[in-house]
This record gives sequence, C-alpha cells and structure tokens, in this order.
Amino acid sequence: MIFLISNKHIQNILFWKGLSENSIHLYRGLYLSVFSIKVLYVKTGAIKMTKLAIVYLSTQGSTQIMAEAIAEGARQKHIEVRVDNFYEWDPKDAASYDGIAVGSSTFYYKMLEPIAKFLDALIAEGVDGKVGSAFGSYGWSGEAPVMIAEKMREAGMKVVDPVLRVQYVPEEKDIKECQRLGKDIATKLKKLRTE
Ligand SMILES: Cc1cc2nc3c(=O)[nH]c(=O)nc-3n(C[C@H](O)[C@H](O)[C@H](O)COP(=O)(O)O)c2cc1C
Repeated sequence: MIFLISNKHIQNILFWKGLSENSIHLYRGLYLSVFSIKVLYVKTGAIKMTKLAIVYLSTQGSTQIMAEAIAEGARQKHIEVRVDNFYEWDPKDAASYDGIAVGSSTFYYKMLEPIAKFLDALIAEGVDGKVGSAFGSYGWSGEAPVMIAEKMREAGMKVVDPVLRVQYVPEEKDIKECQRLGKDIATKLKKLRTE
C-alpha cells in the first residue's frame, strides 16, 4: 500500500514536471529496482539492522509492562527489538545486540538474584562500548535499577538516562515515560552507528 501510494506520488510529480509516458515508465522501473535491492540487502543481512535486547525479571508483571512499553517506543523508531523474560535469553546472544536494556523489580533493597546472575554472565561476554539501559518497578526504596546501571557503567556501557523506576503498577503516564525511554535508546543507537 505504501509502495502504491509512493509510486502514484512519483507519477504525479513527473507529470507535473512535464515528462513523457516513457520517462515515467523508466523512473518507475528505477524506483522498483532500488526498492528491491534494498529489501534484498536487509533480508540477506548485508545491511545490518540496529538491534535492541530487552531482558527483564518481574514477579507480578509491573516490570514486564515497563519492558514492553520500552520495546514499543524503540520499534516506533524502526529498531529491531527482542523483549523477553531473562530465562528465555542466552547471555551470549543478548551480548551480541547493539543495545541491552535490563529490568528488575526491587526485592529486599536489591535486584532479584536471578537477574543479578544474568547480568554477571552478560558482562562476562563483553559489553564494553554498548548502549545500556536500566529500569524496574519498586515499592518504597527502588535500588534495583540503580544497581543495574552501576554494573553496566563499570562494564563500560553507555547508559541512557534516565534510569527508569516506576512505583508499583505502571499508570498511563509511566507507560508514556517508558515509551520515551525506548525512543531515546533507539536514537542513541542510531547516532552511535553513524559516528
Ligand atoms: C517480599 C517483598 C519484598 C520487597 N522488597 C522491596 C524493597 O526492598 N524495596 C522496594 O522498593 N520494593 C520492595 N518490594 C516491592 C516490589 O518491588 C513491588 O511490588 C514491585 O512493583 C514488583 O514489581 P514486579 O511485579 O515487576 O516484580 C518488595 C515486595 C515484596 C513482595
């Protein structure tokens, strides 16, 4: 549909510029070729898409809601995103992504133990220079995301601000903030790619 609209649009411009029917066919052919080559390159991996991994642990779903909203924001900026619970991730695979966001709720003034172990395994794979992000739901003290960000910085990651904390279940305004963070991560990833 987008292609049809674009093609029609080009046709109108060319008519407006007073070009002949043959020129229009030629331009349309060129347009189609460039479009097909681009699709082929992306599909074969010749043009590598920037990828974001979102790994979380959530006991009752609040940090999961945050993770999914961050993913939505990043996808709106045309970034490839995989968002999954930590046990579905292989740390080596997660470390191969351009950006890695890690989320945990706070329990007993720290991050949950399984995500702490995951983070250690991730860092052991080598994440120096990669973009990082930390987030999580909390009740009253909210140390987990701060601790995640600290570990990421120590490992040489570029942590995107803010380290995002939401008290208990995210509300509409919190979800918007998570989407904003997703967009900011995507912008930072794209910027680093062109540097
Ligand atoms: C046993 C227990 C211990 C908790 N300890 C803390 C804590 O030390 N600090 C804090 O801010 N919140 C604490 N919380 C609150 C949780 O972080 C909060 O409920 C959060 O929304 C859970 O998010 P989740 O559903 O993503 O796991 C605790 C909750 C429970 C049940």
